[in-house]
Order: sequence, then structure tokens, then C-alpha cells
Amino acid sequence: MSGGTREGEEREPGHAFETVAAVADLAEGSLLGVRTSAGEEICLFNFRGRVGAVHNVCTHAEFPLSDGTLLKDGTIECVWHGAQYSCLTGEVRRGPAIEPVAVYDVRVEDEKVKVRRRMP
Ligand code: FES
Repeated sequence: MSGGTREGEEREPGHAFETVAAVADLAEGSLLGVRTSAGEEICLFNFRGRVGAVHNVCTHAEFPLSDGTLLKDGTIECVWHGAQYSCLTGEVRRGPAIEPVAVYDVRVEDEKVKVRRRMP
């Protein structure tokens, strides 16, 4: 799949927004595991209608966060050992994880979810 670069879209290699899902695939309160063309594992979420994304690898023992649960307060809970992260900031809310999970920039355009790695 390829295509031209839309006007105003970032052209920096490896740092452009990339379509990874349709908004329709992400019901409110749900998590969805997707992968970028570069193979990055992404966990999309729909928290009260706000679509966002974090790295889909629990920092405790690398279980996919998308197999877990999005709690009502925006906490993503890993299904394996119960670590919890804020979906919006990636910070740890409950161990055993210690390190935060990376957060991605997200755009919703034309009913599509686009992500890119957040610059430090
Ligand atoms: S792998 Fe997620 S809590 Fe252990």
C-alpha cells in the first residue's frame, strides 16, 4: 500500500502519521492491537470517545496490552499480572510494571485512525 503525501503531512522518514485502523473498528471503551508498516505494535484505545494509542507491549513482561482491559477511568490493565497504566500519559498506576509505556500521537481523519511515534 502506498500513496502520495498529503499536503501538510510530515515527511520526516519514520515520523509520518500512518493509518492503522478505521474508527469504526474501535468502539468506545475498547482496546485494539494493530501494527505499523515498520512492525511497531500499537494498542489503540477509545476512552470516552477519545481515540489514542500506546505501545502494545507491557513494560513488565511484554504481554500485549490490547489483550487487557480499558477501565472506566482511562486505566489500561494488563491481563497477565495486572499492571495498570494511564492510557493518556502511559504512566504506571499499579505495578508490577515500573517503567511507563510509550504514548503515540494520534489523528482521526476521514474515519481513519493515524498514529506516529511521539517525539521526545
Ligand atoms: S506482563 Fe503485564 S503485568 Fe506482567
